[in-house]
Amino acid sequence: MFTIKNHLQIENSHLTIGGVDSVELIEQYGSPLYVTNEERLRANFRRYKDAFPDANLYYAAKANANFTILRIMADEGAGADVFSDGELYMALLAGIPKEKVLFNGNSKSDHELLMAVKTGVRVSLDSLDELKTLSTIAKNEGAVVDISFRVNPDVSPDTHPKISTGLRTSKFGVPHDEVVHAYKKALDLPGVNPVGIHCHIGSQILDITPFAEAMTKMMDLVEQVSRLGAELEFVDVGSGLGIPYEKGVKVPTPQDLADLILPIFNERCKAGGISPKLILEPGRYVAADSTVLLTTVNTMKEAEKKFVGVDAGFNLMIRPAMYDSYQHIVVANKADAPAKNIYTIAGPICETGDILAHDRELPQIEKGDIIAVLDAGAYGFSMSSQYNGRVRCAEVLVNDGEVDVIRKRETYDDLLANQILPARFL
Ligand code: LLP
Repeated sequence: MFTIKNHLQIENSHLTIGGVDSVELIEQYGSPLYVTNEERLRANFRRYKDAFPDANLYYAAKANANFTILRIMADEGAGADVFSDGELYMALLAGIPKEKVLFNGNSKSDHELLMAVKTGVRVSLDSLDELKTLSTIAKNEGAVVDISFRVNPDVSPDTHPKISTGLRTSKFGVPHDEVVHAYKKALDLPGVNPVGIHCHIGSQILDITPFAEAMTKMMDLVEQVSRLGAELEFVDVGSGLGIPYEKGVKVPTPQDLADLILPIFNERCKAGGISPKLILEPGRYVAADSTVLLTTVNTMKEAEKKFVGVDAGFNLMIRPAMYDSYQHIVVANKADAPAKNIYTIAGPICETGDILAHDRELPQIEKGDIIAVLDAGAYGFSMSSQYNGRVRCAEVLVNDGEVDVIRKRETYDDLLANQILPARFL
């Protein structure tokens, strides 16, 4: 037995996860299959927490909102960054305390804002218009809602443009130079109580220097907002720490991030005589490498390239198609065989862009082999769809040799669920 990456090992030439043979998992639970290792998920969260012992960590539910995973996060003491009414519903039901939930979103509906008021969570506001709407809704309910503003810090991290969220041109947040005005307004309005400040600069960030710039800009704002008389209880700097999807890539750790931003935070708090709580919202770092997506080879084709046709495509893992991202591939039933050929792993979706991996050196592949897509736990299942009439696959949780199904494979009935055939067609 030897380790290929973190918690993933090879035993009798098979990839194992959490002490369970991936080939046996496919035999028992069918293909494709998402497999999450509970121990790795918890370890990732704890490593982040160890780097920021005094901060609150709000798990970003969008990364993976499987209910069992949310429950594990609740068990670890996490709060939640939620971005919709559905994520709010699931996070609270999973046992994440309402005091530790921040409802984010650049375009929340009135219904969502009302739900925030009724459930008593905090709301991160994205515009002055949204401030007015929430104030009216809260006043009508006789409630006062704790709020922050999401700041657009105008910071440019080195990541894919589609996942860079704090650029001046981005749709997220209140423009940096309007933030103080927004707090002034909030202090004057009924139904809202400004208690925090929030930003998020992007995701899969490997050069962490922009986090220092964002932290400094945030603390400048905290100082200005404090002068207005608003006592801020929290400073939430979002998340975005990248992970090593590709072998050999050097990545920063949560400790590196802490070493960079905590001195700025602590120094500025001390200088200002304030003691807000620091909040971070990790998603990818916690969930991504806890999970593999297993998919079976349906067919082989020698054309301009050697295509491997598998049974999972961008219906189940959209990252490569959407961001040209790299997901590492292992042939799970021949995990220690030497590389033989260069293959392109193609999904079954009727789109040219449905490629999980381009031009990879892999062992000899044949029909029936099992392909493992590594680091699939963040923005994998949570971005899945039923496109092309494909049912979503099952998810299992493994832990020290034990397996639990945490989501059943959908059925054809699920494709028709909620659809209504008008009576005249009967
Ligand atoms: N907080 C806020 C407000 C966010 O918008 C996000 C991610 C996070 C926290 C979590 O960031 P993380 O720790 O995961 O980097 N689907 C894309 C990623 C989109 C990220 C959107 N916001 C992908 O697959 O790369």
